Amino acid sequence: MPSILQCMNCARQYPVDSVIYECEACGGLLDVQHDMDWLRTVATRELFDSRMGTWQMPYKSGVWRYKELIAPYAADDEIISRPEGNTNLYDLPRLAKWAGVGRLYLKHEGENPTGSFKDRGMTGGVTQAKRLGMTRVACASTGNTSASLASYAAFGGLQGIVLMQNKQIAFGKLSQSIAYGAICVRIDADFDKNLELVREVSKKLGIYVLNSVNPFRLEGQKSIMFETIQQLRWQAPDWIVVPGGNLGNSSAFGKGLKELYTLGLIDRIPSIAVIQAEGANPLYNAYTRGFDRLEPMHADTLATAIKIGNPVNYPKAVRAVQWTEGVVEQVSDQEIMESKAIVDGIGIGCEPASAASLAGIRKLVNSGTIKPHESVVGVLTGHVLKDPDATIDYHADRLEHVRAVCPNVIRDAAPTLEALAEVLGARVTER
Ligand code: F0G
Repeated sequence: MPSILQCMNCARQYPVDSVIYECEACGGLLDVQHDMDWLRTVATRELFDSRMGTWQMPYKSGVWRYKELIAPYAADDEIISRPEGNTNLYDLPRLAKWAGVGRLYLKHEGENPTGSFKDRGMTGGVTQAKRLGMTRVACASTGNTSASLASYAAFGGLQGIVLMQNKQIAFGKLSQSIAYGAICVRIDADFDKNLELVREVSKKLGIYVLNSVNPFRLEGQKSIMFETIQQLRWQAPDWIVVPGGNLGNSSAFGKGLKELYTLGLIDRIPSIAVIQAEGANPLYNAYTRGFDRLEPMHADTLATAIKIGNPVNYPKAVRAVQWTEGVVEQVSDQEIMESKAIVDGIGIGCEPASAASLAGIRKLVNSGTIKPHESVVGVLTGHVLKDPDATIDYHADRLEHVRAVCPNVIRDAAPTLEALAEVLGARVTER
């Protein structure tokens, strides 16, 4: 059976080469479904292990190493890859102690080519756009998707178009979209409105949408789970903890983990914990009410990447939490920035939204949800250079609602040896 697109609600099917983002019958979100019987015969640990360290494209990519699970129908030379993935999984005993867990790993997706996890989905989405013969691709974005789209569109010879929220797009991300040559449109609206707009405009103007409502993006993003588990020698951890905004990543993680389990590549499914910012917490609110319904909200948080009030992938994220017997937690901007300072201070670094993972882990340990002996993988979604203002403003203690707990204050000194010695608390000695 070839891969197909299937509605997650009514199971209606569409050919994999359809330009479609929602079910024509019921409006439900679509999944790319692969032939699991065939996959059982080819998708083995040995196959994926044999590709480790290869120079051969596209298999040296940390996404396309798992090509059979992502887009088995694509020819190797159709794939637009920079190549992405192969990000580090840091084993961090000091942080584990700080958070109160037995074993803590951080999977740093900020180590992707454009500095965020979005590249893993974008290689899937832009490859599909090329296969469909599209020439223009577009997204709404809080910044990282647009940076990634701009890069991959340019790399694949397509015109990228990005709709950006009016304020609060982090500087690093804005500069990337401009640099990579996308048409950048600044709109006086938030992310949620821009996403509505891009979907409408694309339908009318024949532009391919590359937000995570596009199921081919999520296929690429699944590889974060495949690679993490391969790095753990195919042993599943107890918890996977991930920040949630538009909920594409958590949705993809649920699908990926279920597939690994169905194929016998892992013997148990880790629980997913989705962490939201308190000011942008529609999934958390729905979770506390037993996932009765999504109530869109006006979002506000310093973690601008996840400043989203009406997440398009809500139904898939609910499914991921339920499939994995997971949880949803919320954290304050204060907790996010303190956790960022911790991740930065151990020499790894991340952008604010990413630090929601670590803040969430600590909170879930304190509440007894994560047990002290359990193993936890936190996903860092973006690079420390993405949002330099957040870092500098935190350490200068000039953020509006956040207090710097241990700021690394810049010290001033006159250009003399004595002045420097004073600042460094050292004595000048004659030699
Ligand atoms: N972390 C970072 C750094 C992000 O950029 C995003 C999303 C998320 C977490 C949340 O992931 O949406 O899959 O739940 N950024 C999108 C963007 C919305 O436009 O760049 P999600």
